[in-house]
Amino acid sequence: MVFTLSVNGDRLASTADPVTPLVDVLREEFHLTGAKPVCREGFCGACMVLVDGKPAPSCLMPVALAADCEIRTVEGLAGGGTLNPIQQALETCDAVQCGMCFPGMVVTLTHLLTTTSGATRDDIRAALTGNICRCTGYERIIDAAVLALAAT
Ligand code: FES
Ligand code: FES
Repeated sequence: MVFTLSVNGDRLASTADPVTPLVDVLREEFHLTGAKPVCREGFCGACMVLVDGKPAPSCLMPVALAADCEIRTVEGLAGGGTLNPIQQALETCDAVQCGMCFPGMVVTLTHLLTTTSGATRDDIRAALTGNICRCTGYERIIDAAVLALAAT
C-alpha cells in the first residue's frame, strides 16, 4: 500500500507498513533527519513535528494516521535557508549544547511563537513540558524564547 503524505508543503509517497512510526518514515524514506527517535515513548519530545499545526511526537504516530494530515518538520520551519526567529534567538542566546533535543524544541517554541502573544516565562516552561533537555538547564532556552517573543 502507498501512503501519500503532505510534508513541509510537498506531497511525498511512502510504501512503509501502515504501523511504521512517522519518525522512521520521515528519516528513512524522506531523509528528513531533524526529528530524532530518542525515547520512542512520547516522553522526550526529540521527535516533535507539527501535525495540522500542533506539536506532536512523531514516534507515536503510525504513518497511516499521518496520511490525512499536514506535517511540518524542523526542516520546514526555516525559509529559504534563513533561520526563523526562534532559531535565531537560540543561536543568539548560545542555548544549544549537544543539540539532540533542539529540533523538537524549535518545533514546540515555533508553535508557541506563532499562536501565543505575551507569553511569560511560566508559559514557555509549560509549553516545554513535553521537551526534555539533558544538557542545558533550560534557562538559556527560555531566554531565547523570551527574546524571540519580544521581537514579534
Ligand atoms: S522519541 Fe518521540 S517523544 Fe521521545
Ligand atoms: S542540548 Fe543536549 S539534550 Fe538538549
